[in-house]
Amino acid sequence: MPRKLAAGNWKMNGTSAALAELDALVQSPFSGCDVLICPPATLISRAADRVSGHDLAIGAQECHWAESGAHTGDLSAEMLRDAGASHVILGHSERRSDHGETNAHVCAKTQAVLTAGLSAIVCVGESLGQRESGRTLEVVTQQLDGSLPEIIVPDRLVIAYEPIWAIGTGKVPTLPEIEAVHRGLRSYLSDRFGAEPAGAIPLLYGGSVKPGNAAEIFAVSDVDGALVGGASLKAEDFIPIIAALSTS
Ligand code: PGA
Repeated sequence: MPRKLAAGNWKMNGTSAALAELDALVQSPFSGCDVLICPPATLISRAADRVSGHDLAIGAQECHWAESGAHTGDLSAEMLRDAGASHVILGHSERRSDHGETNAHVCAKTQAVLTAGLSAIVCVGESLGQRESGRTLEVVTQQLDGSLPEIIVPDRLVIAYEPIWAIGTGKVPTLPEIEAVHRGLRSYLSDRFGAEPAGAIPLLYGGSVKPGNAAEIFAVSDVDGALVGGASLKAEDFIPIIAALSTS
């Protein structure tokens, strides 16, 4: 069984004052799952110092594929590791749409993250049009196919299924729809990397996960956790989601 993971993606939200949310999270320890917060890059180092000694991991939302060099404004995986990050989110649909990131970019970044000894959370997800035309599984497996390097490190790879139309909208696929995609992703991973490595990779669902729907989503087979945006910004919203995963 993969380890369960509740991952919070703060996106472009939060200045120093937001670090107080981490104090509230570490005061509510949960043993049944891993917990990760990915704040903006400006807060990673202070966040990592603040939760030091606690079971709360700090991650990044993005990185460059190169080790170093003339890439103004970018950060390498090694820099993020040095700042205290243990995970990096890659290929989020907002990066794919705002910055034109392709599967090839995501693949190179995933390789860089794994080489730096960090864990990669690789995101895939279909648009509403793709879902309505019945192409969801084809789209997400093609994204995965192009976004994962030839050699992976199963215990440092996480996949997040995030339907674009469910992100920040309050809309969520039906539970059988989530189950069908997760089953398809597991089967793709198993065909490509073998059943045992594939079985170790957590599959997260993301898109409008809230305290009110978390438990039913975590009860779906092959859902090993969540990538949570809006509801991870406040500890009072994220804690019940962590609790639901921890006891699922
Ligand atoms: P949301 O975002 O929970 O606010 O829908 C999820 C995500 O983009 O990871």
